[in-house]
Amino acid sequence: MIANHSTATLELVRAYHERTKHHFDRYAAGPEYLDWEQQPNPFREFESAPLIKLPLDFEELPKAGFNTLNNRQPQLALKDWGLTEISSLLRFSMGLAAWKVYGPDRWSLRCNPSSGNLHPTETYLLVSGLKSLKDGVYHYAPYPHALELRAETGSASANQPQILLAFSSIAWREAWKYGERAYRYVQLDIGHAIGALAYSAAALGVCLQRLPLSRSELARLLGLDRQEDFKDAENEYPDLIFRLREPPDQPSDLSSGDGMQLPTAKQWHGTANRLSQQPSHQWPLIDELEHPLMACPPCRQLPLAESFPEPARGPDQPIHQIILQRRSAQAFNGKSILPLSHFYQILDHCLPRATEHPWKSWPYQPRIHLLLFVHRVDGLSPGLYLLPRSQQALPLLKQSLDEDFSWQPVEGCPAHILLHQLVTTEVKKAARALSCHQDIAASSFFSLGMLAEFDTALQASGPLAYPELFWEAGLIGQVLYLQAEAHGVRGTGIGCFFDDAVHQVAGIKESGLQSLYHFTVGEAKPDNRLQTLPAYHHLGS
Ligand SMILES: Cc1cc2nc3c(=O)[nH]c(=O)nc-3n(C[C@H](O)[C@H](O)[C@H](O)COP(=O)(O)O)c2cc1C
Repeated sequence: MIANHSTATLELVRAYHERTKHHFDRYAAGPEYLDWEQQPNPFREFESAPLIKLPLDFEELPKAGFNTLNNRQPQLALKDWGLTEISSLLRFSMGLAAWKVYGPDRWSLRCNPSSGNLHPTETYLLVSGLKSLKDGVYHYAPYPHALELRAETGSASANQPQILLAFSSIAWREAWKYGERAYRYVQLDIGHAIGALAYSAAALGVCLQRLPLSRSELARLLGLDRQEDFKDAENEYPDLIFRLREPPDQPSDLSSGDGMQLPTAKQWHGTANRLSQQPSHQWPLIDELEHPLMACPPCRQLPLAESFPEPARGPDQPIHQIILQRRSAQAFNGKSILPLSHFYQILDHCLPRATEHPWKSWPYQPRIHLLLFVHRVDGLSPGLYLLPRSQQALPLLKQSLDEDFSWQPVEGCPAHILLHQLVTTEVKKAARALSCHQDIAASSFFSLGMLAEFDTALQASGPLAYPELFWEAGLIGQVLYLQAEAHGVRGTGIGCFFDDAVHQVAGIKESGLQSLYHFTVGEAKPDNRLQTLPAYHHLGS
């Protein structure tokens, strides 16, 4: 049951979602041309905040295997964490991965992907009781790979050492390029960031535990409500906060926040830099949505109820290598064929299990299911397929999709992967057209749309279910990116698609299911025009 005060916000969320759909004959409102003069700075700084440089000597790290992450023990008790562990955690999640050079242009890429490489996500670290770092709220600055001390803190009780990590978003970075639809991309990026952080934590033998704070509490904790520090800066909204913890023996509701101690700021430092030359007053729709969401109570998600057998895995590789080499494919060769066993393994890892990273850090009942456009998978007829990510969702999916679909279970597919064939036919043209005519949706092995249980999620969890559905979609995207790399192929997130045209192809008539994100996996064509430089060469490392 949703509190009355949320009903108006719920309407606002639905109106935003409808208004920001792309249609074949009309894109959602966005800039008619790109004003390069206003291109936002991808790096937020808090001018005059004390800077703590993080070490870059990662060779010392014990190598964690991607396939053996679940058996990994904490490398150090959290209380003994030093700058090396913090550096590694941040570098391999939200840090730089490389620089690309093309003629006079030079741009950085990060371990986490971002729509248009615009990186709206900011990261904060809150520590207490560590020997290596004084108690405080820190902003992570990826360019100098350093922490900016925003505030010294005193905690309610300092006997339990604690490391908290929080994300916030600056929507203007995306809105500059994508206009009103940008809010969706910002939330998808948060989902990718959750995945990136969960994998990086797993390499250190720890996982994330979400804390049930409201957005307004989080804004206060991070100092985002301090107008005096954000005078000239573009709006930055809080998203969510985690506590680092050792993996639990028993999967349980990790969002209980038991024994939580929230620090209180003593003194704040620094002023947020402005990212574009002119203050941005465009696309007010995003602020109009963010403001009422700030007042909503935290969103409760159902704990993961189903379990699946352990997924099959390919040959092992170091996780840090996979994280650093992850890239979005710009083009696929359109010829190679994916072995069927790899296809099943990639899909299998998208099923949530409370015993597997990154789902250990996000152990919630899945509300997103995959509508697959299969093009080039060995032994599988091209066509439209559906992968429910829970058994429970099957009735809703069957009742919402085209009644003429065959719903044929795929013969030979591992029994717990509930893959169903809907139609067998070439779907390359449809996939390309639906993903804003992008060839990467058709020249791949397969592409997919992520169908969210839209109405039931909003009804059960209130307006904040809206961003959280995008987070789940982004997290699946991050799993697909890393799984693709682990199988020697490549993925790309696709935020641009024609919403209702996708629904029409699937026979979805009402808002019960909504496609929120697309993804594609294939064999990338190398782009030899670009030169690659090491991530931290600018620091002399
Ligand atoms: C939410 C999201 C949406 C994206 N949408 C598209 C898209 O529609 N088309 C595309 O070619 N790439 C898309 N990308 C890929 C980004 O452009 C890419 O992540 C970014 O340029 C950074 O490059 P990297 O992933 O290689 O680090 C998307 C990525 C994300 C995370």
